[in-house]
Amino acid sequence: MELLIRPRRLRGNPALRSMVRETRVSPSSLIYPLFVREGQGVIEDIPSLEGQKRYSPDTLPFELEQVCKAGVNSVMLFGIPTQKDEQGSGAWSEHGVVQQALQIAKREFPHLYMITDVCLCEYTSHGHCGILCGDRVDNDRTLPLLAKTALSHVQAGADMVAPSDMMDGRVGAIRALLDQNGHEDIPILSYAVKYASAFYGPFREAAGSAPAFGNRKGYQMDYHNRKEAVKEAALDVKQGADMLMVKPALSYLDVVREISSTFSLPTAAYSVSGEYAMIKAAAKAGLADEIGLICETAVGVFRAGADVLITYFAKELAQWMQEGRIG
Ligand code: PBG
Repeated sequence: MELLIRPRRLRGNPALRSMVRETRVSPSSLIYPLFVREGQGVIEDIPSLEGQKRYSPDTLPFELEQVCKAGVNSVMLFGIPTQKDEQGSGAWSEHGVVQQALQIAKREFPHLYMITDVCLCEYTSHGHCGILCGDRVDNDRTLPLLAKTALSHVQAGADMVAPSDMMDGRVGAIRALLDQNGHEDIPILSYAVKYASAFYGPFREAAGSAPAFGNRKGYQMDYHNRKEAVKEAALDVKQGADMLMVKPALSYLDVVREISSTFSLPTAAYSVSGEYAMIKAAAKAGLADEIGLICETAVGVFRAGADVLITYFAKELAQWMQEGRIG
């Protein structure tokens, strides 16, 4: 048969397939999220996220050792306090759980890049991401608290802060307070495009951060919207964001593409807890190959345009990238 163009010619050999790959991935673009809870000597399983654990500040170094061994250079810390209050004051306490964890971790792993999630929902008694005025989250009164939280993380050793609360103006408020305190070199990774998502379910179980009433639709984005993602990202760029995040990842690959091609900032995508749990559940039920699902979904996010992937599979992916299984 006369067929001049045969795409299959480039697929016939594994060396050739990897030669002509369009998407290259590397462990340096992975961020591993970790949960630190108050206490001592704690290493506990998280039932909603099989394979993930909560650590107390003193046991966190055991896990950080594994993270480094796997070839992951960067982690994102989430704090789980024992005491909560209306304001979420544990978030910016000098002796808060994330602050303690940072001090210990930075001492033992000075080269591991540490990002902190900046939000109040794990620290407020009502579980919302800001302080309340009646039943509403009060945007403007929340901003100084988020800024204080970010500053306290940086003072404890954070290399980068990542606000995830979705209050308007928070990137600017955080930038201003960091600069006033001489931290103009600390970058902000903004959760610029964060949708109100059912995919956060397992995380809220893990962090004990589910809202006590209502939901987060008054501040997180409506998943029907794409142009609004550009608007949100543009606002954060103006306020001094250094990197933009889209979250969740899997159901929002069009948004990842849109943000990465519209803005010149690095784009991160967060493959959230529900995405992790879905893969774990499917594999456990014998419905699909776990490694196959992990690799394909991760590469899909990079192919969509992400420069950075935040994922609970970071350690596994880093290892497989080094082995050449993907990459
Ligand atoms: C805090 C925060 C959440 C996640 C990251 N930061 C939960 C939420 O907004 O309800 C979710 C991460 C995940 O599901 O893996 N606001």
